[in-house]
Amino acid sequence: MTSPGSKIPPAVRAEDLALLARRFYVDGPWLMRKMMHFRIHICPFERLIPHVKPGSSVLDVGCGAGLFLALLTGTVQHVAGTGFDTSEPAIQTALRMVEHVRKLGLPAELGFLRLDAAEQWPSGQFDVVSVIDVMHHVPPAYQDRVPGLAARSLKPGGLLLYKDMADQPFLPAAMNRLHDLVCAQQWIHYAPIDAVEEWARQSGLELTYSEATSRLWYRHELRIFRKPEG
Ligand SMILES: C[S@@+](CC[C@H](N)C(=O)[O-])C[C@H]1O[C@@H](n2cnc3c(N)ncnc32)[C@H](O)[C@@H]1O
Repeated sequence: MTSPGSKIPPAVRAEDLALLARRFYVDGPWLMRKMMHFRIHICPFERLIPHVKPGSSVLDVGCGAGLFLALLTGTVQHVAGTGFDTSEPAIQTALRMVEHVRKLGLPAELGFLRLDAAEQWPSGQFDVVSVIDVMHHVPPAYQDRVPGLAARSLKPGGLLLYKDMADQPFLPAAMNRLHDLVCAQQWIHYAPIDAVEEWARQSGLELTYSEATSRLWYRHELRIFRKPEG
C-alpha cells in the first residue's frame, strides 16, 4: 500500500484535462457547462485517471454531468462507462456531452441514467466503480452501505476509486462546506476516511492505495480498494 501523500506518476496533466472539458461540454445550460470547465481546477482527476486501465468498464456513482467518464473517454482507450446521478439536469448535460463527443468523431461508449444511490444500482459487474465527491452528499444513515454496494458491483480483481473532500484540517473542510452551501444548497455530512476504510474492509475490499492532495483551498482524500480474486 502506498502511504498518504505519496505519488504515482501522473499519466495525464490537469491542463490537458481542462482542454478536454472545454472541448466536450459545449451544449446545455451555461452554468452547468462552466461548472464542468472549472471543476478540473478543483478536483484532481489526473490523480484518478491513471488507475483506470484501457478496456475497463466503469460504473460512476453520483456521476454529475459525467465529467469523469468524459475525461476517461478522452484519455484512456476503450473505456465503457455507465454513470448515474439523482440530478436530472446533470444527466441531461451528460447525455448532451455524449452526443457532442460522438459528433467530434470520438468513440463514447457511455450511458447515463437518473438514479439515487439508495435505489437498485445498474446490474452487472464492472472493472472499476468510482465514487467521486459524492459521499458527503449522501445521508449519514446510508453512507456505510455505499462501499458494500460498490463491492457487489465490482468484478473480482476490480477497483473501487473513492475520492472525497477531507473533513480536516478545519479551514479546507469549512471552505468546501461553504462551497456546497452555495452551489448545492446543502449542509453536507463528511464521512470520516477511517470509517470509509473500515466499511470497505467489512465489505471484503482491500485498501491498495492512499493519497491526500490539496488543490486551491480544497483538501482531497483518495483511496483505492481492490476486490480480491475468487
Ligand atoms: C460534487 S458532485 C460530483 C459529481 C461527479 N462525481 C464529479 O466528480 O464530477 C456530487 C454529485 O453527487 C450527486 N448525488 C448526491 N447524492 C446522491 C445520491 N444519493 N445518489 C446519486 N447521486 C447523488 C449529486 O447530484 C451531484 O451530482
